[in-house]
Amino acid sequence: INPNNIEFMFSAMDPSQYPEGNMKEIALSGRSNVGKSTFINAVCGRKNIARTSSKPGKTATLNFYDVDSQFIFVDVPGYGYAKQSKTSREKWGRLIESYLAERAELQAVVQLIDLRHKPTQDDVLMYDFLKHLEIPVIVVCTKSDKIGKSKVQKHLKVVRETLEVEPEDHLIDFSSVDKKNLPKVYEALSNYV
Ligand code: GTP
Ligand code: MG
Repeated sequence: INPNNIEFMFSAMDPSQYPEGNMKEIALSGRSNVGKSTFINAVCGRKNIARTSSKPGKTATLNFYDVDSQFIFVDVPGYGYAKQSKTSREKWGRLIESYLAERAELQAVVQLIDLRHKPTQDDVLMYDFLKHLEIPVIVVCTKSDKIGKSKVQKHLKVVRETLEVEPEDHLIDFSSVDKKNLPKVYEALSNYV
């Protein structure tokens, strides 16, 4: 992936705005503030192509990024953001559901989990929903830099067991700070693009 050939395409609020051209898409999913936008930057080798924030709820639309003309990353608004109103939660649900369920270009979803904590009920629901739709999932457990190295395997086991990660799906510990396991992420992505 050439970092100089990453391009923000546009944001979309409904299917009429999705890109045309049949490029393969990989979507990001995960709790608000888990690090989805930061992950896109790490994989693309760019600091600020996807907008990040220390406050949850930064990404509010589907944001499409052309990654070196090889595939499109779709940055998805995070779930589980407590301060969201009921109306905006419902709107979020419709947007995500229709994208995940109907988008033919979608090849796989990278589901981000905070490696420090046991997956939440929302994480489990999202993983189950993706499996119900038969979408391949790459489970990326991020912020591994925030726990001791000796704890990584134990935490990965908790994630595997709580989500009941299926054998054909990938489970990778990752850090967007030190880029740990970036080659493993590229390898997993290469199965789908
Ligand atoms: P929403 O757009 O609100 O859904 O959030 P998001 O999932 O896109 O999170 P974002 O990428 O904006 O990151 C949230 C915060 O986590 C930022 O302060 C990031 O710097 C931080 N962060 C993300 N990944 C890592 C990581 O691997 N390690 C550490 N230490 N911090 C991280
Ligand atoms: Mg974001």
